[in-house]
Amino acid sequence: MRISVIGGGYVGLVSSVCLAELGHSVNLIEIDDGKVAYINSGRPTIFEEGLEEMLAKHINCNLMASSDFNSVLISDITFICVGTPSSSNGSADLSMIKSASISIGHALQGSEKYHVIATKSTVPPGTTQDVVMPLVLKESCLKKQNIGFVMNPEFLREGRAIHDFMKPDRIVIGSDDRKAGDLVETAYSGLNAPIVRTGLTAAEMVKYASNAFLATKISFSNEIGNICKKLSIDVYEVMNGVGLDHRINPHFLNAGVGFGGSCFPKDVSALIHLAECLREDPILLKSIMKINDLQPKRLVDLLEKRIGSLRGKRVAVLGLAFKDNTDDIRDSRSINVILDLIKRGVHIAAYDPKANDSMHSIIPDIDYCQSAADALNAADACLVMTEWPEFSSLEKEFDLMKSRVIIEGRRILSCNYSEGICW
Ligand code: UDX
Repeated sequence: MRISVIGGGYVGLVSSVCLAELGHSVNLIEIDDGKVAYINSGRPTIFEEGLEEMLAKHINCNLMASSDFNSVLISDITFICVGTPSSSNGSADLSMIKSASISIGHALQGSEKYHVIATKSTVPPGTTQDVVMPLVLKESCLKKQNIGFVMNPEFLREGRAIHDFMKPDRIVIGSDDRKAGDLVETAYSGLNAPIVRTGLTAAEMVKYASNAFLATKISFSNEIGNICKKLSIDVYEVMNGVGLDHRINPHFLNAGVGFGGSCFPKDVSALIHLAECLREDPILLKSIMKINDLQPKRLVDLLEKRIGSLRGKRVAVLGLAFKDNTDDIRDSRSINVILDLIKRGVHIAAYDPKANDSMHSIIPDIDYCQSAADALNAADACLVMTEWPEFSSLEKEFDLMKSRVIIEGRRILSCNYSEGICW
């Protein structure tokens, strides 16, 4: 197929490269000319395992990037993959969705070819029907029967996005007409996964409910963890027993300092906002966020309980990314902890295998170290904030500390003298 992808960010770039891997001819449309040139030179704009190799294989072969929307005209399907960041009231900011819809509509003016627009961005339920469709139809002046609309959410995890695209648990296709949904289903025929066919708004809700439920599992584990800590029992042993129940399953039951990233906090907040607009009190969703917001403070309070007043102390912070295998610090719990430590007068020595620069760009006034050993050197205490595998082999490095006070926000160390936020 000939496919256009709008937006060269995380979802757009990974989807473009994977659709090219499935054999389609892909045009990635990105308004930032700098990004376009970078991608066309075979260099990915994000760190993602396997992406560089796959991009090199397809760029300037059956994949190319440009800022020209006219390639939409010759495409069978156009996927909208632009960002939907949070706005100040927690709702999803749809400005990029709107401008992409207008540009696509404009490019389709006078088209005689049937075309499908598939939203892949995470958007509040009702967006494809009430925002994308009217804007595209108005701008293109085309009749409804000439354009099909689909909602096809992604479930990509950062750090594992190529794997998640090529080996999905399911492919969700929401459409208001069978023909449009069938075309998108055909685009994925190279993948082996259950297909969920539903309506546009239901497909949008599948995405939000999936992320909200995963966040629920994490906040639930953290709450149980906080109780276990008071009982001096290990939450990981407890959740191991819980997760063996096939109705529960063991995934996403790892207790710790809370969830971060560009998705869970944003999507749960957007769902809370949507529910309140619908005059529905999202009691559970609000609790998920409250537990998540309190975990970082709980960690710093535990540190103060262990070493007393923090003012003037040197604390090593190991891990800045919101999780391992990425340089992404968006909504990372490390940010909350570092800002709290700064307020309490701590001298911070931070280290992350990939995210030092990202964190330095938002918090420049702390020490960034080139190794865990450097950060631990003469430290009064250490906080482990990201589950980087390299931290699990730390042992003699802890001898460099002034006192061996080690608190884990993520369960990753193998030594037996650390303490966990909730274990
Ligand atoms: C998530 C969803 O997993 C993915 O399906 C969706 O498309 C986008 O959002 P991502 O944000 O990349 O993906 O990260 P994920 O691996 O889900 O982790 C999110 C956060 O939860 C991280 O901060 C992680 O450390 C934390 N987490 C995860 C836990 O605290 N405990 C767990 O058991 C799992």
